[in-house]
Amino acid sequence: MNLLLMGLPGAGKGTQAEFIVEKYQIPHISTGDIFRAAIKGKTPLGIEAQKYIDKGELVPDEVTCKIVAERLKQNDTKNGYLLDGFPRDLDQAKSLEEITDKLDKKLDAVINIDVDPDTLVQRLSGRFICKNCGATYHKLYKKPKVEGTCDVCGGHVFYQRSDDKPETVENRLKVNIKMNTPLIDFYKKLNLLHTVNGNQDIANVTEDINKILTNLN
Ligand code: AP5
Ligand code: ZN
Repeated sequence: MNLLLMGLPGAGKGTQAEFIVEKYQIPHISTGDIFRAAIKGKTPLGIEAQKYIDKGELVPDEVTCKIVAERLKQNDTKNGYLLDGFPRDLDQAKSLEEITDKLDKKLDAVINIDVDPDTLVQRLSGRFICKNCGATYHKLYKKPKVEGTCDVCGGHVFYQRSDDKPETVENRLKVNIKMNTPLIDFYKKLNLLHTVNGNQDIANVTEDINKILTNLN
């Protein structure tokens, strides 16, 4: 299954990606995660990407599209993949069409998680992440089972993403909201788009996505 999970910052793409990749045993390809790993490793890509990410701007297309093209060539995508956070504008969507045409790995479906902007601010400002394994939590909506201990790895150190600070969140949402409608229209026209109400709690959003996926089979 070749899938794209789209939605504004904080919509719950990373959260919902977990069960989808488990269900289909496909790789999770998140451009945001790729950039954050590069920043952590202080690679040339990371140094370049950080300039944009810290301001809430998009990393330039020539960098991002090349990364995705290379990633989709890898053998682990032969039975499918889940894209998360790419494409996020019309130019990137057109590039993805070219890439997947050439590789014969065209998208089977696009799942759009739709969330009200006010809710997104709350989601981003309350998010915290395990430093050891990267598991994502929320101070109100997804607390670790034992306070201060990661459910996944037992780690005790958590951090806030640098782009979740209020001054960056505002610009991230502004930049992404502008590009989102043309992207939705693009996938509507291709008859690939399925929209779920992402304002519900995590389990209900999972259930709705699962129904869509089951009907695709
Ligand atoms: P990226 O990492 O992709 O960030 P994003 O799109 O802003 O999305 P997030 O990861 O912030 O949110 P999410 O939807 O995954 O939400 P999550 O599940 O964590 O990109 C970061 C940056 O990299 C970009 O700003 C850009 O600079 C650059 N970049 C990336 N891709 C690019 C591209 N294609 N082109 C150019 N530049 C690119 O959930 C959020 C919080 O809410 C969590 O705390 C979670 O626990 C909680 N939560 C989730 N669902 C629910 C729910 N239903 N109810 C209550 N709480 C919930
Ligand atoms: Zn952990």
